[in-house]
Amino acid sequence: MLDGTEFDVDARWQALDRWLVALQPLWRPVPFTTPTPPWAGQWPEFERWLDALDDGEVAHYEHDPDRFAQQAAAWLPQLGRRRGLIAVPALSGPDSTLAEALARDMPGRKRLQAGAMAAALRPFSPAVVDWCCGKGHLARTLAAAGAGSVYGLEWDAALVNEGNRLARDSGAAVTLRRQDVLAPALVWPGADQGVALHACGDLHRQLLTTGVGCGVSRLSVVPCCYHRTAAAEHMPMSRRVNAAHGRCRLSRDDLRLVVQETVTAPGRERRQRHRLSAWRLGFDGLQRTLRGRDEYLPIPSHPTRLNQGDFAGFCRWAAQCKGLELPPQPDFAYWEQHGRSRHARVRRLELVRHLFRRPLELWLVLDYALYLQEQGFAVRLGTFCERALTPRNLLLDAHRQGLR
Ligand SMILES: C[S@@+](CC[C@H](N)C(=O)[O-])C[C@H]1O[C@@H](n2cnc3c(N)ncnc32)[C@H](O)[C@@H]1O
Repeated sequence: MLDGTEFDVDARWQALDRWLVALQPLWRPVPFTTPTPPWAGQWPEFERWLDALDDGEVAHYEHDPDRFAQQAAAWLPQLGRRRGLIAVPALSGPDSTLAEALARDMPGRKRLQAGAMAAALRPFSPAVVDWCCGKGHLARTLAAAGAGSVYGLEWDAALVNEGNRLARDSGAAVTLRRQDVLAPALVWPGADQGVALHACGDLHRQLLTTGVGCGVSRLSVVPCCYHRTAAAEHMPMSRRVNAAHGRCRLSRDDLRLVVQETVTAPGRERRQRHRLSAWRLGFDGLQRTLRGRDEYLPIPSHPTRLNQGDFAGFCRWAAQCKGLELPPQPDFAYWEQHGRSRHARVRRLELVRHLFRRPLELWLVLDYALYLQEQGFAVRLGTFCERALTPRNLLLDAHRQGLR
């Protein structure tokens, strides 16, 4: 197992970057909107194998992209390098999960995530900021695991009030403050370490720049939702990646791909998603015929009441949204079946695209690591928990050099 301190961030980023750029034709096209991605047809035997997978095998590979990569490497040998390129050390430490009696109102999964993050970060600086802290579940976990005092920043007043009550009730040295962390006038609390668990896109990036600017000695981030950004496309943080930018520019859709993972979604939710996805694809076939244009037409999120309805109802709603007139008696049964077959094909083609989620995620986090190195920090990067607990399980932990 690699040790977090031995991680050669720059070499890994370069190797990943070259690999991702070379394999762009496999991950850029979106099968949902482009029924036949340009790469299809190049490896007919591979496509035949994909098409012949039964639904059980597809579901298995959806949950185990590493295994799928091994299989697919028989036709696409470059995929054989994926495993080495995404290998990172496991960062762990003494069990720090909050005892159940102290974990009131804390969802079970969050309790374990916070405990695993605290374990990987021990020992802490004497005072810590929990950035975008919600009700302060992580903050209370850190306090119980030895952080002297924890200041939580959160913009939702109800969460702040509730979090302060929970902290008071459990006697934790935690104070939450209502704060928009993106506000230019943010005043950094008197703390030496900034920590963020699952603060989305711009929010975790803001912690890195704010922490660097305020001269804190340690920044520890578990990023998520990279696509939640005000920028139209991804803006790298490091000089290193900016210098090479252009080779691998990421749109917001590419960033969304990184987090399109549902390892933790319950079965009922997954079945519902498959059904809705097949309806959307069925309507896509219908609208292409009606408009006489072989082109995807984006449809907004549908009202949840339609989930309980049928395909015909979905099509009527979608057609109205887009100002399309349906024929007097559309062959809904035909288009519903069309949607089901396209959905089956999309799931198989997406297996290929989804192989690039983790490599892209690591590519993004390595940019953060390079940025922190450029600012004088030594970085540790690894996983803080199993993927089944949360797929967003990369932890970047950076110490200002000379201060450890
Ligand atoms: C995904 S939750 C994570 C909460 C907590 N860190 C955890 O792991 O339980 C993100 C939190 O960020 C808060 N948030 C979103 N935008 C914010 C902003 N501009 N300033 C402060 N908090 C914000 C949300 O209200 C939410 O509580």
